Amino acid sequence: MKEELAIFGGPKAVRTDPGDMFVWPIITKEDEDAVLDVLHRRAMSGTDVTKLFEKDFSKWQGCEFALAFSSGTAAIHAAMFACKVGIGDEIIVPSITYWASAAQVFSLGGTPVFAEIDPDTLCLDPKDIEYRITKRTKAIVVVHYCGHPADMDSIMEIAKRHNLKVIEDFSHAQGGLYKGRKLGTIGDVGATSLMTGKSFAIGEGGMLVTNNQEIYDRAIIFGHHDGAHTREIETEYLKEYIGLPMGRYKFRMHQMSSAVGRVQIKYYDTRTAELRKAMNYFWDLLEGVPGLKAHRTPPNSDSNMAGWYAPHGLYRAEELGGLSVTRFTEAVRAEGVAACRPGCNAALHTHGLFNTCDIYGHGKPTRIANSKWDVRENDGRDSLFARLYTHLCI
Ligand SMILES: Cc1ncc(COP(=O)(O)O)c(C=O)c1O
Repeated sequence: MKEELAIFGGPKAVRTDPGDMFVWPIITKEDEDAVLDVLHRRAMSGTDVTKLFEKDFSKWQGCEFALAFSSGTAAIHAAMFACKVGIGDEIIVPSITYWASAAQVFSLGGTPVFAEIDPDTLCLDPKDIEYRITKRTKAIVVVHYCGHPADMDSIMEIAKRHNLKVIEDFSHAQGGLYKGRKLGTIGDVGATSLMTGKSFAIGEGGMLVTNNQEIYDRAIIFGHHDGAHTREIETEYLKEYIGLPMGRYKFRMHQMSSAVGRVQIKYYDTRTAELRKAMNYFWDLLEGVPGLKAHRTPPNSDSNMAGWYAPHGLYRAEELGGLSVTRFTEAVRAEGVAACRPGCNAALHTHGLFNTCDIYGHGKPTRIANSKWDVRENDGRDSLFARLYTHLCI
């Protein structure tokens, strides 16, 4: 009954204080000891712990190479360089993601072309990729958004047909599976954030993973000048650059982060399995509630939601007579669920950074500084972002 809703003055449905239900990541004495060891040895800027963490990570990912970075932003930047994205090149990227899936391409002289997301997965919609491909397209950046695996079979098929590289940004989905395959290892290269807000949280840090020696070598030469990494370079044409700071970046991981990472990786799969159990239970309870649909892979399938980063629900206004998601979430908050809000990341094609901002003084927006055409024209094509605000945080 309308009168009974808290938003209309009725009693709140949720009256207990949730308290401190959930603190993440789980930090134990083992993490503390690992960090203290780095400090006591004055090894913060070294590479010994980081090299071991890279070994742990590549084994856990099931891929040949893992290269640790100071952030996910840096790892994605290096992945773009490793895929030879350069002046005038285009990358296709979903508009609904964090800016660091795309913006680094400016530093390479390239530009992002934004594509639509699928309304159920919230990841890049394969149907919206192909007509955005031009002869300057170099790569597709896939984001496994809020833990949900993207439709990799379709995306890989398109990429193969057009000879494009695929970069997986798995910052929201470390450890997740797509049809039994580890996210980050399906494309040519995977890159992830490992910062404290993520499921796999080690402090500030990022990781690049690949099975491709040239991609690995290019990522090294871009931001890792230390001998421990450069001596692994095997690509002939890169050998003459060893010792030169080719990317002009210093992207090495801080060893206090690597130390935490070495401990976290031992327990990550067990801990995230518990999260998945709890989240699936939560969504099972909400099954059939009008207006709401779980943002999740089918339970008991060989794909999963990994650490279920930033849980979202899908909102279906048509099942509630067109009630806006803003109003719906207001009502849920009034009932005592303070965290319930509409939306997610703002669509990148609407950001000033990708429209008007002239970062380097080209006398025109950076997004079109090196392009032969105005890639912004494509932003409005077809249905781009008609699907905004069809989901909510829980
Ligand atoms: C999808 C995505 N990509 C990249 C990043 C950047 O990672 P970092 O903050 O470690 O630089 C983030 C968030 O931080 C993210 O959510």
